[in-house]
Amino acid sequence: MGASCARALAVAGARVTVVRPPRLAGEAWAAAAGMLAAQIEAGPEEALFNLGIAGRAFYRREAAALTDSTGIEIGLAQDGILQVAVEEAQVETLKAKVAWQRQQAQRADWLDPTELEEGWPWLRAGFGGFWAPEDGTLDPIGLVEAFLADTERRGGHIVEDRITGLWREGGRLMGGLGEQKRHPADAVVIAAGAWSGRLDHLPRPLSIEPVRGQMIALDWPKGARSVTVYGDHCYLLRRGDELLAGATMEHAGFATAPDPAAMADITSRLTTIYPAIAAAKPGRQWAGLRPGTPDGLPIIGPEPRLDGLWYATGHGRNGVLLAGITGELIAQGIGGEPLPEELRLVRPGRFWDW
Ligand code: GLY
Repeated sequence: MGASCARALAVAGARVTVVRPPRLAGEAWAAAAGMLAAQIEAGPEEALFNLGIAGRAFYRREAAALTDSTGIEIGLAQDGILQVAVEEAQVETLKAKVAWQRQQAQRADWLDPTELEEGWPWLRAGFGGFWAPEDGTLDPIGLVEAFLADTERRGGHIVEDRITGLWREGGRLMGGLGEQKRHPADAVVIAAGAWSGRLDHLPRPLSIEPVRGQMIALDWPKGARSVTVYGDHCYLLRRGDELLAGATMEHAGFATAPDPAAMADITSRLTTIYPAIAAAKPGRQWAGLRPGTPDGLPIIGPEPRLDGLWYATGHGRNGVLLAGITGELIAQGIGGEPLPEELRLVRPGRFWDW
């Protein structure tokens, strides 16, 4: 999120410094699968549906420019995401989702079990599936590298230090307090993921807690046609020669050590969409800490009680999808442009009336 905000601010002509800590275990971006599941993983009650669609569109618009500018590939694949109905009761819900999304001018389809078997014979077709042909994936590591490289190319600075809190004097925001030095700035964007609420001298508590997501990787089944698929609280996708699968949703503090029970849980859920996983050799396992908020929506925008302070955090399961668009919105806001009405839902002051 920070890399995206920095790049968007640099594009807008701001003087930008990214202050990033040495790599921390569990940073969500580095652990993420990289799905652009705007239609599959719409927010609660579809509240942020349009923001998710705009988030996905950002990458279509910017992927080539990022690569041209930096030489770094972000691995954008716009080849659809499938959600299999693993129980009959899901069929009507998913068909209703197709209808609703078409009303929103999005492409969405219902594929019956025969169509799934013809397309992907190695999957369990279940009761059919919801098909979002314009959803896709990207490589989050490449994306962050490209955002940072483009920021530097545009004159921005990347500094390694651990920010411990805001630097405030006499009610004014002066910048950030690092372990090594103070970092002066006219505006500060908090984009510290699951660690955002741990900063000192915040004007009010920031309701962000880590929600751990454990992932596993196996060999991609030889000869199997690529696809990204959701099942019952699980998903799988292809990256290179690996099959990545996840992810748990756990409130376990900042612990990131792999947990054999999570491996068993992910594997057992995946058998409902990919039966051959039962015989697959266990592979890598890792965890990321999503920044979770009380209502499951991100926190994007200015702090009403402290001029110059901005938030771009709390994106939960949607960090990759929303990173690009969040950066653009933050750059617009800092540049003095009005923010869209839809951002009312994610305004920073919504948790407090004190
Ligand atoms: N967006 C997928 C996850 O958070 O697991």
